Amino acid sequence: MELLNPRPGVGQIKVYRPIRPPEEDRAWIDLSLTVNPLGPSPAALAAYRKVATQIHRYPSADHERLRRAIARRYELDAERVVCAGGSDEMIHLVCQAYAGPGDEVLTHEHGYRGFLKAVRASGATPVVAMERDMVVDVDAMIDRAGERTKLCFLANPNNPTGTYITAEAVQRLRAGLPKHTLLVLDSAYAEYCRRNNYSEGTELVESCDNVMMVRTFSKIHGLAGLRVGWAYGPGSVVGALNHVRGPFNVSLPAQEAAIAALADTGHEEATFAHTAHWLPWLSHELEAIGVRVYPSVCNFILARIPPDPSLGVPQVTEHLARRGILVKSVTDYALTDCLRITIGSEEENRAVVAALREILEE
Ligand SMILES: Cc1ncc(COP(=O)(O)O)c(C=O)c1O
Repeated sequence: MELLNPRPGVGQIKVYRPIRPPEEDRAWIDLSLTVNPLGPSPAALAAYRKVATQIHRYPSADHERLRRAIARRYELDAERVVCAGGSDEMIHLVCQAYAGPGDEVLTHEHGYRGFLKAVRASGATPVVAMERDMVVDVDAMIDRAGERTKLCFLANPNNPTGTYITAEAVQRLRAGLPKHTLLVLDSAYAEYCRRNNYSEGTELVESCDNVMMVRTFSKIHGLAGLRVGWAYGPGSVVGALNHVRGPFNVSLPAQEAAIAALADTGHEEATFAHTAHWLPWLSHELEAIGVRVYPSVCNFILARIPPDPSLGVPQVTEHLARRGILVKSVTDYALTDCLRITIGSEEENRAVVAALREILEE
């Protein structure tokens, strides 16, 4: 049996536990994952259906058409784009290529948990810098970097806090990191953040040889179920990622739907407008019943339940579930009194507010 043991540390990696609706025959309002409430673009859906008769074939191994479509849309060099089965796979590939036992990988206190999973899977040691009131603290991150820091993951904006740091702060972080550290900018929610002082990272990637950016089709593009992500980075980094990835890591329907989604800017705008309307509405309604809402630039909000010894997150999520609503409790982010609520359709947003009002105003 000894021979069948996995590498040291594998058993300690947390298994992702999905939030499952209790097995009741009802239509659930699922606001627990950060997906697009408008669904996929109709153009992406048509492209997906169109390749249905071709799924006995392997997909393109170099993702050439998809890379070119990404490059055209975002004005990038297609040779420096690499694709993966979701940005989660990309994060794993980066760790696999750049970190291992004895190395450290830096991230931030409430940073996206996919980072920790990938770091631990690579055998490297995660180092976590504290945040300040749910916002990344650049100085704290620079303080925790050192000789052994191979990678630094920054989710900007971050999930589950919804907050972001400015382009200038990201530049300061880059300048303060050792030259041998690759800064990985996870910009999964970039399309939702249109603040003047924000940058998704393209310029930094183009001006530095130790910065890369990771993006996804799961969020504003509404293709979470298909699993498509991509990265833009220095040629050497893209080369390394191509060395470690599997040849057919993005499925045929996923590549076709992603190409179509990129061209459907109307769907993207509609999604942005929907979020821009309902995010402030939801924040305002929750604040009116005593819930603290952190300032989000994403398609979800982090909501802190007011202190009450008899009414914590478990009671609130249970009450919501009784009303047919699922939200994400973020205890795995050490946020024991918070919920992450994704912006849903109008009806869903109104339903979650009504259910929270029932229990919090009782
Ligand atoms: C910040 C961030 N990065 C990466 C991911 C992974 O997304 P995907 O693997 O679907 O591209 C998520 C998903 O929630 C996320 O919030």
